[in-house]
Amino acid sequence: MPGQASVDRSTDAIVQTHSVSRYFPRGDVHALHDVSLAITRGEHVSIVGKSGSGKSTLLNLIGGMDRPTSGEVYFDGQSLATANLDRYRRQQVGFVFQRYYLLPNLTAAENVQIPMFETSASANERAETANSLLAQVGLSGRGRHLPRQLSGGECQRVAIARAIANRPQVILADEPTGALDSESGMAILELLESLRETSQTTLVVVTHDEAVASRASRQIVLADGELVDSGGA
Ligand SMILES: Nc1ncnc2c1ncn2[C@@H]1O[C@H](COP(=O)(O)OP(=O)(O)O)[C@@H](O)[C@H]1O
Ligand SMILES: [Mg+2]
Repeated sequence: MPGQASVDRSTDAIVQTHSVSRYFPRGDVHALHDVSLAITRGEHVSIVGKSGSGKSTLLNLIGGMDRPTSGEVYFDGQSLATANLDRYRRQQVGFVFQRYYLLPNLTAAENVQIPMFETSASANERAETANSLLAQVGLSGRGRHLPRQLSGGECQRVAIARAIANRPQVILADEPTGALDSESGMAILELLESLRETSQTTLVVVTHDEAVASRASRQIVLADGELVDSGGA
């Protein structure tokens, strides 16, 4: 496969980007320029930088929601350029967003089940799994609540339960605490950290909150679409 020969397999990287650039013709924006980085399996990294520095663009490329204009993204040593991105997003990554993106007319348990509709799980299995996922995020007994009957922090817990429903290898969180007060935000981060530990998941958190960023073992810093610090030793 093109580009495969150049990937660095000497590290236990789960995600690598190789000179990744993303140009948006609309607005004539170079959102990312020549970004190369590696994220180790099981690592907790944060991606920081001012608004507009390219954080979400980078996370979307890693998550297979977008493709680079040039350069390459590798997951577990495989280039995403030739991957089935639908399947990749469904099976390998779990997304968490600032605004939760829960479906308002579905209950918490139904929202959690959304990713499972594409699996072979039966209705009973889906319901059982949703209950245990809700318990895992501290929401036992809330399965029948609609999003509007839950607090922001509780909605984010539902979104996290949904993100981990298919047991992803990597959780990609874009400003997961951005809509929350600092106390519930920190509780969300602690939940993500505990899931990382119990499931050996890799955790990538985009944030501009220093208290959130500093919990990671490493901070990747972007400025004007360029990698200015990869946070390594
Ligand atoms: N779909 C898009 N079309 C055009 N410009 C975009 C698009 N997405 C992001 N951008 C631009 O790319 C730059 C980086 O955006 P983004 O990655 O969202 O930054 P951050 O998440 O760090 O705030 C910004 O100038 C933004 O306006
Ligand atoms: Mg953003």
